[in-house]
Amino acid sequence: GKWHLRSSAMQGLKVLVNAGPTLEDIDPVRYIGNRSSGKMGFSVAEAAALAGAEVCLIAGPVHLPTPLGVRRIDIRSATELLQCMLSEAPHADIVIASAAVADFRVREIAKQKIKRGPDGIHLDLVPNPDVLAEVAKVQPRPFLVGFAAETENVLTYARLKLDKKNIDLIAANDVARPGCGFDANENALTLISRDQQWHFAQAGKSELAGQLITQVAALYRGRS
Ligand code: CTP
Ligand code: CA
Repeated sequence: GKWHLRSSAMQGLKVLVNAGPTLEDIDPVRYIGNRSSGKMGFSVAEAAALAGAEVCLIAGPVHLPTPLGVRRIDIRSATELLQCMLSEAPHADIVIASAAVADFRVREIAKQKIKRGPDGIHLDLVPNPDVLAEVAKVQPRPFLVGFAAETENVLTYARLKLDKKNIDLIAANDVARPGCGFDANENALTLISRDQQWHFAQAGKSELAGQLITQVAALYRGRS
């Protein structure tokens, strides 16, 4: 059981979590996606609930059970995720964005299945909105925690995202590390604020999510 993760660290707080990939349809049978399993984000939502928070989880298409006591909303694309986040974020004290948002979508989704021909095809891709950066403009602005999935220069790139997206904390995730990141059951994270950082050693995602939630709660309660 997860009873050992129970605490009152987030008692009375409303926490909005997003998790999983977004999928961008190309035609009725194909999409652009990524390798996010959603496990880390679902573990974070569960850990926040176990710490006493009222949790809303916005989930991309994944086959994972909804953690106990969590309100779940399913989305598919980045556009749907943005709409949903903008309507939920004003009610949240803390937003934790672990979703692996597809950075591009096709300009127009084909109504019919694209047929295979002798030539290749070019997909006309347009950038998706930066959901987290948009949520950072919401009033009242919740306390914002992002994730950064990197394969190199992990801490440097994560720190750049903290500034660029104007968020409070970012959890840097080395997805090239063996046994960690996408699809894996374990992970290791470095939580970064403007002037401090905390390292959480490789562990199961539930364990790690519990540690992350405890630290986020302490920083939220102690913010100036
Ligand atoms: N994110 C988002 N909307 C996007 C892209 C990312 O909300 N269109 C959020 C993710 O949920 C995550 C954080 O921003 O919390 C960092 O995502 P990541 O993909 O690592 O960063 P990008 O800004 O997309 O940069 P890049 O993929 O080029 O490294
Ligand atoms: Ca990205």
